[in-house]
Amino acid sequence: MKGFTIWLTGLSGSGKTTIAKELQKKLLMLGYKAELLDGDEVRRNLSPDLGFSKQDREMHAKRVVYISKLLTRNGIISIVSLISPYRAFRAYAREELKDFVEVYVKCSIDTCIKRDPKGLYKKALNGEIQDMTGIQDPYEEPLNPEVTVDTDRQSVDECVDTILARLHQLGYINTLIEERRSDAKQR
Ligand SMILES: Nc1ncnc2c1ncn2[C@@H]1O[C@H](COP(=O)(O)OP(=O)(O)O)[C@@H](O)[C@H]1O
Ligand SMILES: [Mg+2]
Repeated sequence: MKGFTIWLTGLSGSGKTTIAKELQKKLLMLGYKAELLDGDEVRRNLSPDLGFSKQDREMHAKRVVYISKLLTRNGIISIVSLISPYRAFRAYAREELKDFVEVYVKCSIDTCIKRDPKGLYKKALNGEIQDMTGIQDPYEEPLNPEVTVDTDRQSVDECVDTILARLHQLGYINTLIEERRSDAKQR
């Protein structure tokens, strides 16, 4: 099995974590090894020392790239869900990881503010947070992602199926039936 990285980028509240979890579940059901490196949880464990300045975000993201590299070189699919607002950084991640599928989790800022699953936009709009992506800090949209899903318009399942179809098209995954056949051949 070949390892690769699925990199989900998008605004806070766009749906990265929701989609990443569902995607991992489906990949596991298809018989793949897939690990999830989700923004918040990884941050708590790997970067409790870092904040949200450009420099800190970049340092944190570099650590995530490193872990992703360890996983993928051992044949594991690494799903990274991280706002990763800067194009230059995502280009760095692509360059480091090579087998890289960039997924733009697209969602209007208005919808993200309406969803506000963590109450962060409310705080940013009140001035309690000063470095919120999409409010005070920029989000640089991907120019050429492998996949774009639009969570304003598509359901979670539709987004996940769009990503799986693209992974298949890119040759990263086979169908379940093909998987079983090749397993049988090896035995
Ligand atoms: N198509 C969709 N894809 C993902 N999330 C969606 C979608 N439609 C609505 N949502 C909701 O939007 C919110 C997204 O939150 P979350 O996944 O934590 O975003 P992020 O990780 O990008 O900050 C969740 O409450 C989710 O149920
Ligand atoms: Mg999240």
